[in-house]
Amino acid sequence: MSGRMAQPTAISQQYQSATAFIYLVLRAIYRITFHPLVRFPGPRLRAISHLPHAFCGLVGRQPYDVRELHSKYGPVVRICPNHLSFITSSSWEDIHGHAATKKLQKYGYFRVRPDAQAMLTTTGDEHARQRAAFAHGFSQRAINDQEPTLTLHVNRLVEKLEQQIKHTSTFDVGEWMRFLAFDIIGDFTLNTQFECVENQRYHPWVTLLMKWFRASSFVTNANAFGQLAPFIMLFAPVAHLKGVKDHLDMSAQKVHERLAIGDDPKRNDLWTYLLRSKGDKALSLGEMEVNAALFLIAATEPLSDVLCGTLYFLALYPDIRTKLRTELEACIGPDGVLNMAVTARSPYLLAVINEFMRMYPPIPGGMRRKTPNEGHIISGIDVPPNTVVTIYQLPAYTLSTNFALHDRFLPERWLPADHPERPKETLADRQEILQPFSIGPKNCIGKGLAYAELKLILARFVYHFDFETVDDGFAIDKQTAYLFRDRPPLRLNVSVRI
Ligand code: HEM
Repeated sequence: MSGRMAQPTAISQQYQSATAFIYLVLRAIYRITFHPLVRFPGPRLRAISHLPHAFCGLVGRQPYDVRELHSKYGPVVRICPNHLSFITSSSWEDIHGHAATKKLQKYGYFRVRPDAQAMLTTTGDEHARQRAAFAHGFSQRAINDQEPTLTLHVNRLVEKLEQQIKHTSTFDVGEWMRFLAFDIIGDFTLNTQFECVENQRYHPWVTLLMKWFRASSFVTNANAFGQLAPFIMLFAPVAHLKGVKDHLDMSAQKVHERLAIGDDPKRNDLWTYLLRSKGDKALSLGEMEVNAALFLIAATEPLSDVLCGTLYFLALYPDIRTKLRTELEACIGPDGVLNMAVTARSPYLLAVINEFMRMYPPIPGGMRRKTPNEGHIISGIDVPPNTVVTIYQLPAYTLSTNFALHDRFLPERWLPADHPERPKETLADRQEILQPFSIGPKNCIGKGLAYAELKLILARFVYHFDFETVDDGFAIDKQTAYLFRDRPPLRLNVSVRI
């Protein structure tokens, strides 16, 4: 009886396997013959399967791999069956500009809470309402109001580093930059003192988040494996993924504490401005909670990446460091104070930061968008409907397609065209491609704050300390990159100048 039952089961399994195999073969043939993206260049294997791209993502090499593809196949490459990567300068406007944002939807973003969404994952009118509610809190006026808080944190860093140098002059400067980034953003967006710099160690909340950054990028890449995703997810760091629940709960708690204080003009933090948003612009409690959680994630890693990387390059190039210092000294007024007004007057400081973000974009991959049902024109190319499109930032900024002397750290390329020190070769650079904060209505709301922080912290560090590399452990092309970078320690030998 049981033998008779087993026979049809075995046959049906064979039948299912054969059907699945035939389906995969036919799908592969379709993808390289009649698929709407067949006219776009790229390797055959990538046109057939998502696996090569997903695998590069899992091992942290996706942006480097896409760079190889662009250098071989040109400015538009089919990197997956249904996914195109662009590195043309006009693609920013066509994918992320105001008109495009109404048509192309975000692709592959996940909501962290079912009942309330943060700005990053909202669309249309809902997004516009949330942006408007937060806009004043991120305005230049609000940033200027934050200068005393920012200065307090930077002063503490300088003081603590001076103590550290007395103990040992060689240490991981990168860790201090992460301490500082969390302290500042915790204060600005959550009204919380993490005191990472003060205690010289991560607050448990910060540790939890750092593990979550890595785990969430694992999920994004695992999803690209399609039917194999559940198998890949068996290896997911589940405990770290669950950390997001604690992060959401703790952020919500902090929002409640801040709301209990109410509109306090003496504080002038993000919430002072938000609480004044009334009527259509007002946010629900859930929206405030989930946005507070977003700020801490969005604002810290990219910022500390830029701080670390810029210091690494300044350590490698003492001439550039000296030139920057000389310009800063010339910008300081008779009061001898190096503040935000001074850093705003230094074009070379901005050039150094921009050149660094070119060579080491803090978001080295790209933001995915999906073309609408009627298709969409990008850089003059007719892109079929429902295609995933991305501007991969690392290839866009570090290939000769867009920048002359592309592998040289050359801040002078960002000086005005008629500046005597502007290298002639760079006059044809496609500068408009450099958009590390993205463009359009969904670009980075914290761009102004990020530049203010970067300028003040870097200027104060360069002014107070001298520093040099002790090994090549931070070499940028050897670093793996997930959603953000997986940064190795930045070990520098640091001494006090002033
Ligand atoms: C070097 C530092 C930073 C870089 C390179 C950066 C980059 C970006 C980029 C590229 C986006 C667009 C993301 C997308 O379309 O999916 C974005 C969005 C965002 N960023 Fe930043 N960011 C930085 C610092 C900050 C800071 C300091 C804050 C302040 C809290 C912040 C808050 C946000 C928020 C809330 C969004 C979502 C905006 C929206 O959807 O309307 N970022 N950022």
